[in-house]
Amino acid sequence: MAKDFACTHEIVDAAHRAWSRAVWDYVAGAALTETTLRRNRHALDSYAFLPRVLRDVSAIDVSADVLGHKLRAPVAIMPMGSMKLMTPDGAKAAGRAAGRYGAIQCVSSVAGQEMEEVAAEGAGPKIFQLYIRGDMDWIKARLDRAKKAGYTALMLTVDGPYYGIRERQLIHRWSLASVRDPARHIQASVTWKTFAAMRRHWGGKTVIKGIATAADAKLAAEHGVDAVCVSNHGGRELDHGRGTMDMLPEIVEALGKRAETWIDGGFVRGTDAVKAYCLGAKCVGIGRLAAWGLGAGGEDGLVRALELFEEEIFNAMGLIGAASIAELGPEFLCRAAPLSPTHETSAFRHFGDAPLR
Ligand SMILES: Cc1cc2nc3c(=O)[nH]c(=O)nc-3n(C[C@H](O)[C@H](O)[C@H](O)COP(=O)(O)O)c2cc1C
Repeated sequence: MAKDFACTHEIVDAAHRAWSRAVWDYVAGAALTETTLRRNRHALDSYAFLPRVLRDVSAIDVSADVLGHKLRAPVAIMPMGSMKLMTPDGAKAAGRAAGRYGAIQCVSSVAGQEMEEVAAEGAGPKIFQLYIRGDMDWIKARLDRAKKAGYTALMLTVDGPYYGIRERQLIHRWSLASVRDPARHIQASVTWKTFAAMRRHWGGKTVIKGIATAADAKLAAEHGVDAVCVSNHGGRELDHGRGTMDMLPEIVEALGKRAETWIDGGFVRGTDAVKAYCLGAKCVGIGRLAAWGLGAGGEDGLVRALELFEEEIFNAMGLIGAASIAELGPEFLCRAAPLSPTHETSAFRHFGDAPLR
């Protein structure tokens, strides 16, 4: 039973046992040398806490407002493609889990199920993430459908004009239909002008996902975006990028109060999330952790993964002396050297030093 998972290690282990090697590598893997992936973890591990003591932390509130939604904790399930590989009910199972738990669900246009079907599952706020595969009429038709289906915001992912070269998938001679779609190339011609036109047509809140520099964060704010997600796609597109935690401070500063700053990339522990909140992130996104929850136990497995993530956030906040997310700030952090080689499963010490394969 998923509720019996005592810790996140057991969830990762269960997903690893449940999936074929090809599915494990699709989810866990990244581009080329996987340096960007490892830098995400490295950047997170490069901070240590400066705990304050003798403060009243007998009641801790981890809830927060994100994009106008009051969330149980500032956590979003990030968009993922081909989710039926993770669990038979795919993004629909994730929708029910997000609703039961109280997290935002971002739904990819290549999730593998129709956006309307996923929108109908679970009561929580849902954001529609679009990969562009056609002209403006094609885009507008998708936006109209998403609005009608009840999505509360539109997310444009901008860090994949080309699909990352994923060596693990190439070795398995395994590729997804969505990647082979010749219309995928249209994405390479998407510009700020496209975003502006989409935003005008959508008329509601927008999120740009995949910003990696202060310069682009400023442009995003000038284009009226409501939230920017600092992201490198979990290291799956550009290799040799920076870890997202190393990008966060300059992007928080560039955006100021003009837009919310979100972050994803390697977040699997509550301590990871608390570090990002300390540096100004309003919301933390999880990709692989959510996939592992689904692999371990479908909808229930993801709910359990979210509960454990929250339990770790709560615990870390209590131990550093912060009773609410609003109390967190950079004064709780200092720089520190990571202790071991970093990789996709290095935050789970009981697997040993090597990545799970
Ligand atoms: C299996 C998988 C599929 C993904 N598919 C998409 C997608 O369709 N659209 C998108 O914007 N990002 C996609 N991403 C990237 C995630 O939204 C997110 O940025 C990334 O997973 C965060 O890093 P993490 O997995 O280390 O948490 C995918 C990630 C994974 C692991």
